[in-house]
Amino acid sequence: MNFSNEQRDAVYEAIHNRRDIRRFLSTPLDETAIKRILLAGHHAPSVGFMQPWDFILVSSDSIKNELAAAADKERRALAIHFAAEGRDSKFLSLKVEGLREAPLTVCITCDPTRGGDHVLGRNSIPETDILSVACAIQNMWLAAYAEGIAMGWVSFYKKADVRRILNIPPHIDPTALLSFGYTDEYPDQPLLEKAGWAKRNSFDSLLHYDTWNNKDGSR
Ligand SMILES: Cc1cc2nc3c(=O)[nH]c(=O)nc-3n(C[C@H](O)[C@H](O)[C@H](O)COP(=O)(O)O)c2cc1C
Repeated sequence: MNFSNEQRDAVYEAIHNRRDIRRFLSTPLDETAIKRILLAGHHAPSVGFMQPWDFILVSSDSIKNELAAAADKERRALAIHFAAEGRDSKFLSLKVEGLREAPLTVCITCDPTRGGDHVLGRNSIPETDILSVACAIQNMWLAAYAEGIAMGWVSFYKKADVRRILNIPPHIDPTALLSFGYTDEYPDQPLLEKAGWAKRNSFDSLLHYDTWNNKDGSR
C-alpha cells in the first residue's frame, strides 16, 4: 500500500466522476475488460468472507426485453407514489433503465445460505449479506469507470419477475440488475440532479462530532 500521488488521484477521480448511466451504444463490449470488472466484484469485502454473490451475464435480446418489460411495469406502478406531490408525470419522464440498449446486463445475486447457518459477523446483522453484495457492485462500478465502460444500476423490478425470467431459485435474492455498455453521454453530475429531481446534500450538514447532532467540530 504505497500509492504515488497520481495513483491516489486516479482512485478519487473514479469515485467522484463515476455516474449511473442509462443510455448505451450498441458497440460490443471488450470481453477481457468485462472479466476484469467481474473479478473486481468478486474481490469485494464480504461479511465472514461469505462471498454471497453470483453473476448472471445476460446478453440475449429476448431475455433483456423481458427484463426491460418487468422494469417498465414496476416504473409505471411506482408513479402513483409521486402523484400526491404532483411529481408523477415528472417521474415518468425520467429514464430509469437502459436494459434493452445495453449490450450486457449482469444480474448480481445474493445467496443468504452461503457459508452455513452461522457466518461470522452475520448473526448480529442479517442484512450484511446484501451489504456485501453492494460492496461488490461498487467495486464493479469503479472498475467499469476505469475501463471506460458505463454502468447503470437498475432496481425497478419485482424480484419474483426477475427470478422467473432468469430461472433463479427461490432462496436466492436477485439484488441488482447492472447494465454495461459504452456511451457517448457521460454526465458530470448525477442524472437526477441534472433533471432537477434531487440534489447532493451539503457535506457539512452530515457531520456530527462525538455524538449525534453535535455540530461543533472544534477540539
Ligand atoms: C441501490 C441503488 C439502486 C438504484 N436503482 C436505480 C434504478 O432502478 N434506476 C436508475 O435509473 N438508477 C438507479 N440507481 C442510481 C441512482 O439513481 C444514482 O446512483 C443517483 O442518482 C446518483 O447518481 P450517480 O450514481 O450518477 O452519482 C440506483 C442506485 C443505487 C445505489
